[in-house]
Amino acid sequence: MRHLIAGNWKMNGLRSSLNEITKLKSLLAASQRAVDVLVCPPVTLLERLVVAAKGTVVKCGAQDCHASASGAHTGDVSAEMLSEAGAEFVIVGHSERRADHAEADVLVKAKAEAAQRAGMMPIICVGETQNERENGRAIDVVTNQLLGSLPNSGEFVVAYEPVWAIGTGLVPTLADIEEMHGVIRGKTAPAVRLLYGGSVKPSNAGDILQVANVNGALVGGASLKADDFHGIIDAYK
Ligand code: 13P
Repeated sequence: MRHLIAGNWKMNGLRSSLNEITKLKSLLAASQRAVDVLVCPPVTLLERLVVAAKGTVVKCGAQDCHASASGAHTGDVSAEMLSEAGAEFVIVGHSERRADHAEADVLVKAKAEAAQRAGMMPIICVGETQNERENGRAIDVVTNQLLGSLPNSGEFVVAYEPVWAIGTGLVPTLADIEEMHGVIRGKTAPAVRLLYGGSVKPSNAGDILQVANVNGALVGGASLKADDFHGIIDAYK
């Protein structure tokens, strides 16, 4: 299975940020790695990123989509629109969307299926809160999210992102990552790529990416700087 290192820029990035893509391209050209590289910028930069990444290994994706193909949904963007703009992947069910926009599993599943309908690969995010982990409920919570959020068929990627590890510098132990990825693997086919996300940095990527059933990473903060993002990709030695 080819592993995937995905960058989620979240609500960060103006046109000048595309300089990081130029830099990433030259870093990648100098160090061929057998991994897929994905960048999910804010939607305003998607088409420019597609142009900037053309002819390189960098694929482009989006951070969310609406479940419908079109209609009266002010401010929303459909999977079909993102696909036409050049996105090949769409993150759905990120914990920030689950929290900020009260997105429940049933909606996440509908969005994942919309991405598939438009010919894109959904990256479906799951993960427990700190409170849930402390109360011994992490596996139950993630299992329920999977049951509710995964499409019934077709291809998808799953990203395990413990909410308490996002943007905090905190990372689960390798044993805890292995345990949760084993649980997720039990609910998904062998060919489904399972990403770990939450405070992945060049300094910890080498260890995390070697854990059983970790087939790549979903990277937030460290994806904004080409050197850091490349340092994570470079962990595949
Ligand atoms: P950080 O890498 O900044 O912790 O964010 C992880 C994340 O939420 C990626 O989707």
